[in-house]
Amino acid sequence: MSRTQIIAFANNKGGSGKTTSCSNIGCALAMMGKRVLIIDGDMQLNLTLSFFNEEVALEYASNGKNIYTAIKEEKDLSDFVVSTEYKGLDIIPSTSLMSAIEFDIFPKWQREFILRKCLEPIRARGYYDYILIDSPPTLGGWVMNIMCASDFVVIPVEASPWGLFGLANMFDFINKVKEISPRLSVMGIMVTKADERKNYFKETLKTLKESEDVRVFDNYVRIDSTIEWSQDNSKPVVAYKKYSRSAIEYKMLAKEIVEYANR
Ligand SMILES: Nc1ncnc2c1ncn2[C@@H]1O[C@H](COP(=O)(O)OP(=O)(O)OP(=O)(O)O)[C@@H](O)[C@H]1O
Ligand SMILES: [Mg+2]
Repeated sequence: MSRTQIIAFANNKGGSGKTTSCSNIGCALAMMGKRVLIIDGDMQLNLTLSFFNEEVALEYASNGKNIYTAIKEEKDLSDFVVSTEYKGLDIIPSTSLMSAIEFDIFPKWQREFILRKCLEPIRARGYYDYILIDSPPTLGGWVMNIMCASDFVVIPVEASPWGLFGLANMFDFINKVKEISPRLSVMGIMVTKADERKNYFKETLKTLKESEDVRVFDNYVRIDSTIEWSQDNSKPVVAYKKYSRSAIEYKMLAKEIVEYANR
């Protein structure tokens, strides 16, 4: 049996920290000695740009080394993997053509399971310990594909009024996915962009943690401008400034993920 664990980072709320969390946890896991593949599932290419400059990212977008080409042509994803500068960390880049993915998958046979099928050869080989998939801020057929290909979903949430709005839709969607893909489970809510000076944040965290319906990760990531600098330099913060506050927080979250996934 494959030991590869597949984890989706998803939340239909835009800007909730999905890509930042996916890139940093992917890199932190690789730094812990794990073999990790991250997949950029969003037309914004933000995950790809977390590791490569614009020129390189656009090259992958135009030469077919990207998730869009693989899914459109229903190819084995093994042929679309690109290495990053970090040992143990590979990526499948994205392209802005992902904006058309819903139209491309719609007429296909068993359209919810195309990504799962294309990922199967990689999963069966069991080379990677973890595959992390970054989702766009939507809840449609493509995100359904991402969740149907995953064992776990991590939900990055900004502890703000609008950050919480819509979470119920997210859980309804996940329950629908579970009907056709029972192996999916929610690993938990990952609180990001936390501002500990605000009472609102403290109250929200307390409410989330007291909720019996959902698990919340013990660690959370506070607002840290180093994250923006790291992204400007096409590096995850865990590599850009190893001992910065957010780097340490992401490393703690990566440890929590390993513990949870191996329970
Ligand atoms: N802890 C943090 N401190 C400061 N800024 C952050 C932090 N985490 C994320 N950001 C910033 O917030 C913005 C949104 O983050 P990110 O792109 O990771 O969210 P997202 O959920 O992937 O967004 P989208 O829904 O558009 O894909 C980015 O500009 C990022 O630099
Ligand atoms: Mg994103």
